[in-house]
Amino acid sequence: MKILSGIQPTGRFHWGNYFGAIRQYIDLQDNEQAFYFIADYHALTTIREPEVLRSFTQDAAIDLLALGLEPDKATLFRQSDVPEVAELTWLLMTLTQMHLLEKCHAYKDKRDKGIAADAGLFTYPVLMAADILLYDSDVVPVGVDQVQHIEVTRDIAQRFNRIYEVEALKLPNAHVVDSTAKVPGTDGEKMSKSYNNTIELFETPKRTKKRINSIPTDSTPVEDPKDPDNCSIFSLYRLFASDEQQAELAGQYRAGGMGYGEAKKQLYEAAMDYFADARTRREQLEQDSDTVEDVLRAGATRAREVGRIVLDRCRSACGLTARH
Ligand code: ADP
Ligand code: TRP
Repeated sequence: MKILSGIQPTGRFHWGNYFGAIRQYIDLQDNEQAFYFIADYHALTTIREPEVLRSFTQDAAIDLLALGLEPDKATLFRQSDVPEVAELTWLLMTLTQMHLLEKCHAYKDKRDKGIAADAGLFTYPVLMAADILLYDSDVVPVGVDQVQHIEVTRDIAQRFNRIYEVEALKLPNAHVVDSTAKVPGTDGEKMSKSYNNTIELFETPKRTKKRINSIPTDSTPVEDPKDPDNCSIFSLYRLFASDEQQAELAGQYRAGGMGYGEAKKQLYEAAMDYFADARTRREQLEQDSDTVEDVLRAGATRAREVGRIVLDRCRSACGLTARH
């Protein structure tokens, strides 16, 4: 079974990215053939400062390795190091129906807000389809917001296969982990860098504390019982804590006598503890950019080997010459 996923280097990774996506990548690398890439072509639709894109891309690679992605098990690469994906995007674009893209949320949300969208944003699901189809992927681990794009990918692949009467493209399936499918941000809404409500994975301890302290709480007095199930501090705590720890903090909520400040402190400690090893590994990798670059290049070489075969299959299917 082949697993594939991509993540955009459009900012520093946050808890939502980790629990909604990155942790699944790492869990899956042990059993399956896994391909993971840093979606820098995609990021071009939002980042127009070359130095910023370069540094987010580098940080993304370091973060993924620090968090436990092992290059011997999983193939990690930069999307743009495999230019075959851009060619496949064109082949797919020639048969993607406009109505399919018009309903995709990245574009629709912008349009509904009256913001002008460019062709890159409009056709972004086609590039995403090419990302997935180029490697004959079976399973695509993503957050719940990306499921729509996997459905579009299946539609496009089916249409390609039907039009050219071949089984050139394999249909992928999304893989969503429900319990953490939607990590709340500091305002209780979905954590997202677009909402300015994130807690980044590797910000300084001081800043992490500040972000946690900014989570608004209701005015229930310290001595009164509180409802853990209706509290974003507790929802976040659950991500880091064992069942016993969760039961213990929930008990403290319900018993009364504990202020939200105490819950925030416990959340801070649990999070710092959870990411402590990754933080140390990250500091080492930051000093070793050659190793990081070697990993990305070796990953791209492996990815291209697979990608070229699938692209050739598609080129032949539609009447272009196969290259290899
Ligand atoms: P952002 O919303 O901050 O821009 P991205 O859209 O780049 O994040 O998301 C990258 C990956 O992380 C996707 O697979 C997405 O589904 C997942 N993800 C992002 N935010 C969350 C969240 N709050 N909860 C669960 N998963 C998330
Ligand atoms: N669109 C995804 C996101 O914003 C990132 C992505 C690009 C992706 N190509 C992909 C995810 C292919 C899975 C498979 O999160």
